[in-house]
Amino acid sequence: MASISIIHFLLISLFCSFLLVSSSHQQQPYPKPKPSHQQPPYSKSKPNLLVLPVQQDASTGLHWANIHKRTPLMEIPVLLDLNGQHLWVNCDQHYSSSTYKAPFCHSTQCSRANANTCHTCVTSNADRPGCHNNTCALMSANPVTQQTAMSELAQDVLAIYATNGPKIGPMVTIPQFLFSCAPSFLTQKGLPNNVQGVAGLAHSQISLQNQLSSHFGLQRQFTMCLSRYPNSKGAILFGDAPNNMHFGQGNNYNTKNIPNIFNNLAYTPLTTNQQGEYRMHVTSIRINQHTVVPVSGSMLSNYPEGVMGGTLISTAIPYTILQHSLFEAFIQVVGKQYPKQAQVNAVAPFGMCFDSKKINQALNVEFVMDKPNVVWRISGDNLMVQPQNGVSCLAFVNGGLHPKAAITIGSHQLEENLLMFDLAKSMLGFSNSLNSHGMKCSDLFDFTNAP
Ligand SMILES: *[C@@H]1O[C@H](CO)[C@@H](O)[C@H](O)[C@H]1NC(C)=O
Repeated sequence: MASISIIHFLLISLFCSFLLVSSSHQQQPYPKPKPSHQQPPYSKSKPNLLVLPVQQDASTGLHWANIHKRTPLMEIPVLLDLNGQHLWVNCDQHYSSSTYKAPFCHSTQCSRANANTCHTCVTSNADRPGCHNNTCALMSANPVTQQTAMSELAQDVLAIYATNGPKIGPMVTIPQFLFSCAPSFLTQKGLPNNVQGVAGLAHSQISLQNQLSSHFGLQRQFTMCLSRYPNSKGAILFGDAPNNMHFGQGNNYNTKNIPNIFNNLAYTPLTTNQQGEYRMHVTSIRINQHTVVPVSGSMLSNYPEGVMGGTLISTAIPYTILQHSLFEAFIQVVGKQYPKQAQVNAVAPFGMCFDSKKINQALNVEFVMDKPNVVWRISGDNLMVQPQNGVSCLAFVNGGLHPKAAITIGSHQLEENLLMFDLAKSMLGFSNSLNSHGMKCSDLFDFTNAP
C-alpha cells in the first residue's frame, strides 16, 4: 500500500511540475495569436473603403493594429510603419495556416515583390512557414532598432473590414496577400509588447496600402488618424474616404463635423523616395511668429533637398527629431518665450523642459510648407509632454549631426491630426489638431460594434 501511494505521489508531483513548465512556457514573449471572431463567409461585394482600427501603445508611444490573417483567421498584432516596405510577421512561433504558400524563386510573385534572390533554409530540414528551399528572399526591417533579416516571401489570406457608412462593415479578403516571414529575433526589441510584426504602408510594390488598392480597385489614397488616447481607437481608411463615409449617419454628435474637416484640409506636395518613404517640404519654422534660423555653415547644407526640405513623416519614432543645429536654434527661440526661471533640468530624451506651473502662455509652433499660407501648426498636447508630474517638456528630440533627414515628424506630432495621403495626386492633406475643431480621431469612425 505504502509503495503505491509513494508512486502515486511521485506521479502527481511529476504531473504538477509538467503543468508548471507548460504554463510558464505560455508566458514566453511569443503569445499565441488570438482566433478571430470573423470567419467565412465574408462579403462578396466590392468595397469602396476599408478600415483598419489602430491604437496607441502607451509604453512606446507608437501605434499598432490587429491584422487578420491565415486560415482559420487569426488576429496578429503588428506595428504600424508608414515607411515600411511590406508586411512582415514572425513565423517562428505558432504559425499554422492551411493556406500558407511560399512562391518559388523567380516566380511572378517574387518579381512583383522585387525579391530577386533565392532563399534556402538550412536551420531546419523540415518545411515550415518561413523555412522552405527554392523560394525567394526579402529583407524585413525593424524600423525601431534598424535591425534587418533575410526572410522568406510568403502568401496567405488577409482579411480587413469594409466600411458601412461611418461604421464597421463585413470583412473582405485577399486570398494571396504577399508578406514576409521574419525570424523571431526581429520582434524582440523596440516594438510594443506582444507585437508580432510590422505593417508597412510605404509607396512601394507590396506594401499593405498598395496591395489593398490594387486588389479591390480602390482610389490610391489612404487617410490616417492616430489616437493619442490609449483606450480609444484611431483608424486608417483605405480608398476615397471623403466620398465614401456617408457622413451624418453616426450616432456620435461629433461626426457632424467630419465633412467640414475633410473639406477644409490644407494640401502640400507629397514626395516619395526610392524606398517609398513619405516626405513633404517645410520651408521655415516659426515659433510665436519668430522664425527659427539655424546657424549658417551647419551640417544642414548636406541635405540635398535644401535646409529643411525633405521632411520625413514617420510613425516609427515617438517624437519629432531635428538635426542638431536646427534643434539648437529651435530651443533657443522657445527659451526666449518663457522666463528663465521656468526652465528645469531636461528629462531624457528631451532637450528642454519647464516647470508646468510657470508656463502659462501658449506656445505656437508653425511649420510653413511650400506656400506661406500652408501651415502645419503644432501646439498644446502635440507640442508638449509631461514625463514627470509638474514637468513639461518640448516633445522634440535632438537627432545629432547626421540624422536621416533634417526633420522627421514623429507620431506624437501626428496624433489627433487627420492626414490624407493622396498618392494619385502626390499631395498630403492635413487637418491640424482636431482638438481645435472640438473633435478627436476616435470620433472619425464608430468601432463600437467591432468584435
Ligand atoms: C534545404 O537545402 C539544404 C541543403 O541544400 C538542406 O540542408 C536543408 O535541410 C533543406 N531545407 C529544407 C527545409 O528542406
